Amino acid sequence: MSTTSTRSMRAVRQIDYGGPEVLQVAEIERPSPGPGEVLVRVRATGVNPADWKIRAGLAGHRGLRPPFTPGMDLAGEVAAVGDDVTGFGPGDTVYGMVYPPGGAQAQYALARPGMLAPVPPGIDPVQAGALATAGLTAWQALAAARIGPGRKVLVHAAAGGVGHLAVQIAKAHGAHVTGSARPENHDFLRGLGADEVIDYTSQDFTDVLRDGVDVVLDPLGDDYGPRSLKILAPEGAYIDVRQPNPGRPEVRAMAQERGVRFTEITVAPDSGDLAGLVALAARGQLRVAVGHTFTLSQVGKAHELSETGHVQGKIVLIP
Ligand SMILES: NC(=O)c1ccc[n+]([C@@H]2O[C@H](COP(=O)([O-])OP(=O)(O)OC[C@H]3O[C@@H](n4cnc5c(N)ncnc54)[C@H](OP(=O)(O)O)[C@@H]3O)[C@@H](O)[C@H]2O)c1
Repeated sequence: MSTTSTRSMRAVRQIDYGGPEVLQVAEIERPSPGPGEVLVRVRATGVNPADWKIRAGLAGHRGLRPPFTPGMDLAGEVAAVGDDVTGFGPGDTVYGMVYPPGGAQAQYALARPGMLAPVPPGIDPVQAGALATAGLTAWQALAAARIGPGRKVLVHAAAGGVGHLAVQIAKAHGAHVTGSARPENHDFLRGLGADEVIDYTSQDFTDVLRDGVDVVLDPLGDDYGPRSLKILAPEGAYIDVRQPNPGRPEVRAMAQERGVRFTEITVAPDSGDLAGLVALAARGQLRVAVGHTFTLSQVGKAHELSETGHVQGKIVLIP
């Protein structure tokens, strides 16, 4: 039974850098919103690969000194607002993206209004809690690629968090979408609207798509970069979202040589993009596939699962 008092909350705390054992659940002081801040009662908080990469000290951890609260995705209700906040008030249902040290994997989290958007009625709060980071990454990547009707798009890792949302966003914009995944995920991809599927375990996408594509969205990096450039049509766009990706400078130079665009995406919270994403969900054009839910205390298990690199859809923690 929770012993949370009105001034405290349960939160995941990363107490060091290392394996999942550096994650603990602790009772800490509940934050209160300062000027320009919104306090959200978190109902669901998605797990992203960034969480375990930060935990292991591999990426995104600069400037973060343990102990801190991890987690970037949240959905819930506004509990209180600070001075100068307009547009949000107590009781509003919201979702969005925040950053550690004051992360989302807690019963309450603070956000700036520009990191949030209202959630329309009818959207499942668990899906909303898993949407922000992966959805914004896909949305911002496809916007950078100038997605539109008839554009041929290849989404690598299409069954994952970013990929499965990218497939649906690209379809909603009228693109022709090919997704790559293991055969076990092919029905899943077709169910999301993918026009073609590639089995990366037995097919080489550079053979299958040798006639060319306009856009490649790449969450995998390594040799996927140079191989993807080979199948890009002139003036096509290669969008690199993998982090960290040490091979990036070479791929950038190769793209320049071939006359195709190279764009590197670092996701950023944006209330307009969040509103656009959730509007697609409200119209039934975007579904967040939540493959696994865990409690806050099971955060270590959630990280282990994410680290396998073979999760279908999203993992969510319920505080
Ligand atoms: N740039 C940014 O700001 C930003 C933001 C968000 C995420 N990211 C990065 O983007 C990457 C993907 O994130 P995510 O949330 O989508 O990860 P994820 O959910 O963990 O991705 C897992 C998926 O990857 C697929 N996969 C693994 N190897 C594959 C391969 N060789 N070919 C095709 N599919 C493969 C798996 O499908 P199968 O089971 O079918 O293999 C699985 O469905 C991560 O590196 C993450 O850190 C970057």
